[in-house]
Amino acid sequence: MPVTLITGASTGIGAALALELARRGHSVGLIARRAELLAELAAQIEQAGGKAAYAAVDVTRKDDLEAAVRELESRLGPCDLLVANAGSGTPTHAKKNPVADIEWMIDINVRGVLYAVGAVLPGMLERKRGHVAAVSSVAGFRGLPAHAGYSASKAYVTTMFESFRIDLRPLGIAATAIHPGYIDTPLTRKNKFYMPWLMSAEKAARIIADGLERRKAEITFPWQMYLLMHFARLVPNWLFDLLITRAAPGR
Ligand SMILES: NC(=O)c1ccc[n+]([C@@H]2O[C@H](COP(=O)([O-])OP(=O)(O)OC[C@H]3O[C@@H](n4cnc5c(N)ncnc54)[C@H](OP(=O)(O)O)[C@@H]3O)[C@@H](O)[C@H]2O)c1
Repeated sequence: MPVTLITGASTGIGAALALELARRGHSVGLIARRAELLAELAAQIEQAGGKAAYAAVDVTRKDDLEAAVRELESRLGPCDLLVANAGSGTPTHAKKNPVADIEWMIDINVRGVLYAVGAVLPGMLERKRGHVAAVSSVAGFRGLPAHAGYSASKAYVTTMFESFRIDLRPLGIAATAIHPGYIDTPLTRKNKFYMPWLMSAEKAARIIADGLERRKAEITFPWQMYLLMHFARLVPNWLFDLLITRAAPGR
C-alpha cells in the first residue's frame, strides 16, 4: 500500500485527491490547519475501507510541519508520494500596495511547498525511491494582470520542481509539477469573473491521480487550458499584453 501525504487536504483539490488516491489503494496522510475537516475526511476514507491519518498543522511553520510528517509516517509508514497542494490566492494589483498580500502568498505557496518537500526528501534519498509532486497552476506560465503574487508564486514552484526533477531522477525519485486550470473549489468560488472550462474537483483529482501513477513530469489540464497557456508562453510581450488585457479587463 503506497503511503501518500497530501497538504491542503481539508477542502477542494486536496480533499478530492485524498479520496481518489485512497480509493486506488493509497494510505493517505492528510495535512491542513482545520482539524475537524481532516477528521471527517479521514473517517469517510476509513468507512469506505481505506486507511487515513491526519495532522492539523500550518505549512508555513517548518518545524511543526516536519513534526507532523514524522507523526504521520510513524502511523502510516515512510512516505512514498508527497503532494504539496496547500495554497491560496488573492488579487494583488500593483496599484494597491501588494507587498503584504504577496508576502502571504510566498509563505503558503512557496515556503509551504518547499518545507513539505524538505520534510520527506531525506527519507526518500535514503531509501533511493519516492515521488514528490506540487500543485502549481497555469497562472504561473505568465504574469497575469492583478495577480503578481499568485502568478509568481506558482512560477517559482514550477521552476523549482523542474530543477528537482533533473536532480532527483538519477537518485530514483520522481518530481511532478501539476498545473490545473479553473477548478470548482472554495478558492475559486470567491471569483466574480467568468472561469472558462471550469472543472469539478473530483474530475481534477482523477486526472491528477492518473498522471501521478504514470510519474509524469507535468500534469496540465484541461487540455484547452494546456494549449492556451502554452501558446501564451510563446507569444511576444506586446501580443500577450494586448490579448490578456482584453480577456481580463479591469482585473
Ligand atoms: N481551484 C483552482 O482553480 C486552482 C487552479 C490551479 C491551482 N490551484 C491550486 O490548487 C491548490 C489547492 O487549492 P483549492 O482550489 O483546492 O483551494 P481550497 O479548497 O481553498 O484548498 C486549499 C487548501 O490548502 C490548505 N491551506 C491553506 N493555507 C494553509 C496553511 N497555511 N497551512 C496548511 N494548509 C493550508 C487549506 O486548508 P486549511 O484552511 O484547513 O488549512 C485547504 O485544504 C492550491 O495550491 C491552489 O493554488 C487551484
